[in-house]
Amino acid sequence: MIDMRVDLAGMRLPNPLMPASGCAANGKELHRFFDIAELGAFVTKTVLADPRSGRGTPRMAETPSGMLNSIGLQGPGILDFTRGDLVWLKSVGARVLVSIAGNTAGEFGDVAVALSESPAFDAVVGVEVNISCPNVANRGLVFACDPLSSANVVALVREKLPRHIPVFAKLSADVTDIVEIASACVKAGADGLTMINTLLAMVIDTDLLRPQVAGVTGGLSGPAIRPVAVRAIWQVRAAMIEGDIASVPIIGVGGVRTGDDALQLVAAGASAIQVGTATFNDPTALVRVKHELAAALQDKGFARFSDAVGIAHTRLDKAR
Ligand SMILES: Cc1cc2nc3c(=O)[nH]c(=O)nc-3n(C[C@H](O)[C@H](O)[C@H](O)COP(=O)(O)O)c2cc1C
Repeated sequence: MIDMRVDLAGMRLPNPLMPASGCAANGKELHRFFDIAELGAFVTKTVLADPRSGRGTPRMAETPSGMLNSIGLQGPGILDFTRGDLVWLKSVGARVLVSIAGNTAGEFGDVAVALSESPAFDAVVGVEVNISCPNVANRGLVFACDPLSSANVVALVREKLPRHIPVFAKLSADVTDIVEIASACVKAGADGLTMINTLLAMVIDTDLLRPQVAGVTGGLSGPAIRPVAVRAIWQVRAAMIEGDIASVPIIGVGGVRTGDDALQLVAAGASAIQVGTATFNDPTALVRVKHELAAALQDKGFARFSDAVGIAHTRLDKAR
């Protein structure tokens, strides 16, 4: 049997599989299909300080090999989350990676403080900082598109949380140089990186000749973005190998539907894998991908999952 255990900046997990934020709500629906405590960790939907109703409808559009969503970070706010969903996640034994965001850098800090003061905080194994949202204090520019804004948020969240809780910065590939943003986040104290969020995209309804989702633009996810995720993970991992960025674990996400898909992200440098859109048409995708990934690694002669992380960087000559 292959050893699938991972240690992500001190976050010790039995296996590297987790749902992508926002794609499995806060666990109750998936738990009807399998025990979510079997996942490496459970990543929650991004939570902000206050309740948010999200964008107008329609909020989804199909695209070739993917989908567009324009949900707009709908949610109940941090206090409701910590009193309800987090308590439930703890009751079923899930290891919780909480995704947080804010409209300003200060709000990210407030959410981190409220989380750390909550009674079920001992179920939290890490925090994922979703910086792919607009900075109200900076003309609505997405935090993740600016190294300074990204670093400010990461430094603030790092400062507000206890040291034993690793902080993962979730990056967007909608930037000119993702290595620059990754570097700013790691220098600011990120213990790990999650890559990638959805890509900004748009669909036009050709009957009505208007944007298909009410928010006009939306985030593209699914297999269509997998090659972008592989490229982004590769570039950041390469910078770590070169010594340009301190080496921290990368959680890979983007278009994973099968064990082979996951293996691409792992070989590029991901130490864990999140599955998002695939869960919508196969609620058991996470369990299936875990088995398929383990089988693929075993077939290739690996004894440990961790031995395959970034392996493609050592095989460049063979690729030519
Ligand atoms: C419906 C939907 C909602 C999402 N909500 C969030 C969210 O709340 N926070 C976040 O960081 N990412 C969110 N994402 C992005 C996913 O976590 C993930 O980064 C992206 O979908 C790429 O993975 P996939 O191709 O496996 O879906 C959402 C994606 C979808 C499709």
